[in-house]
Amino acid sequence: MEIEIDRRAFIASLGGVLAAKAMDHESRADALEDYAIEQLDQVVAEQQGQQERFPTVAELEAQIETRPTRRGVGGLFVARQGNVRRLPPMPAKPTLKDFFELRFAPANHVLQSATRALKTGMSEQIILACLLHDVVQSLIKVDHGWWGAQLFEPYVPDKTTFAIRYHQALRFYPDEAAGYKYPDLYHRTFGVDYVPPPHIEQTYQMVRKHKWYMEPRLVTVNDLYAFDRTAVVSLDPFIDIIGRHFKQPKEGLGNDNSPVAHMWRTIANPDAPL
Ligand SMILES: [Fe+2]
Ligand SMILES: [Fe+2]
Repeated sequence: MEIEIDRRAFIASLGGVLAAKAMDHESRADALEDYAIEQLDQVVAEQQGQQERFPTVAELEAQIETRPTRRGVGGLFVARQGNVRRLPPMPAKPTLKDFFELRFAPANHVLQSATRALKTGMSEQIILACLLHDVVQSLIKVDHGWWGAQLFEPYVPDKTTFAIRYHQALRFYPDEAAGYKYPDLYHRTFGVDYVPPPHIEQTYQMVRKHKWYMEPRLVTVNDLYAFDRTAVVSLDPFIDIIGRHFKQPKEGLGNDNSPVAHMWRTIANPDAPL
């Protein structure tokens, strides 16, 4: 389905013409994609009785050989249009904030998610989990719950790690009592007849009975693309929460010899040939 983008509304959603001009091409492309997803959701919502036709698993599989890259590739490693761009240099001792600004930007989705969690009075561990839950998709998208939890595990509270690891599986299982429905986005992304693989089903069954079930569940409740299309989001409201709960290594992320330091170096320097 083609979506017509209202140029003026899109620019307004970025914070105006000046803000839009200040963004680099890739950030604008990211924002445009987020915006298109929101528009699509809205159009679909407005078409009551007129069901969107979602692709099937077989149709999505047939698209694999139409692309130069696989769908699971990390966002830093592939251009949305044309060629990839030179990345800004990282400071010698990079912090989480540096990674947000120089490698995860514009990070609209996670900032919106954390903003919603903040506004709805979630715990600081959950707000932090919402802020971090998808940023590993810069590195890799496949099984991003596990990759993301691993990336942050040495630095964040256990509940935050748990929430990041298991939000991925819980996304496939509605919990209407908690306010979470199966997303139309997943019908589009995975196919209308998609059945999650056994590791996802088993993980869901385990987490459903776990005393911390609500931690990842609340990430899924806040895992929305369109809760406020005009929101201008930034990392600023989360600096104190990061300060209280994120154990920033003094050597800088990637330089601390932790078991995940190489993952941070890979995000910092995705142009390294080996
Ligand atoms: Fe996710
Ligand atoms: Fe998400």
